Amino acid sequence: SRIAIFASGTGSNFDAIKAAIDRNELQAEIALIVCDKPGAKVVEKAENAGIDVFQFTPKTYASKQAFETEIVKELHAKGVNLVVLAGYMRLVGDTLLAAYGGKIVNIHPSLLPAFPGKDAIGQAIEAGVKVSGVTIHYVDEGMDTGPIIAQESMKLSTDDSYEEVQQRIQAIEHSLYPKVIANVLKEATA
Ligand code: GRF
Repeated sequence: SRIAIFASGTGSNFDAIKAAIDRNELQAEIALIVCDKPGAKVVEKAENAGIDVFQFTPKTYASKQAFETEIVKELHAKGVNLVVLAGYMRLVGDTLLAAYGGKIVNIHPSLLPAFPGKDAIGQAIEAGVKVSGVTIHYVDEGMDTGPIIAQESMKLSTDDSYEEVQQRIQAIEHSLYPKVIANVLKEATA
């Protein structure tokens, strides 16, 4: 299977997915990194690993349709069959959904449907919840909506700092995402 990872940031989930592939725990090839923030850390990591990168600046395009048309061209050219969002801080639009609907997954740092959108970790801490976690779901036109594939929970206590919670959330993400991608690919070829 050939996957594309969409990321805008540091790419710690990219690292985890790549490590799982290198350990043979995930039978896939990262065919492309798509990044809407040229110069992001994930771009440097991908280039160092010899992985092709499509980076673009959204505001230089007339519309979301215009840049997604370019993205879809790249995905088709690379034979991508699953799109993995990993910190791509942007809503997927109609053009990408028309081409890859049902084949796009996202990871979100809360137990959806609680705390969708930006800074889910901060939202959870602010709300004082005792349990939060990570959700992996198929992507539809909504913000962090779409059928849930997997969730893992963790306990929060009032004296946890933001950084502690974030670290524990990320540790869950890094172990859960590669496993779930492997399952999704298995089901797709079954
Ligand atoms: C992850 O916490 C993910 O849940 C959120 O963005 C973060 C991406 O981090 N949507 P990274 O770039 O993979 O380190």
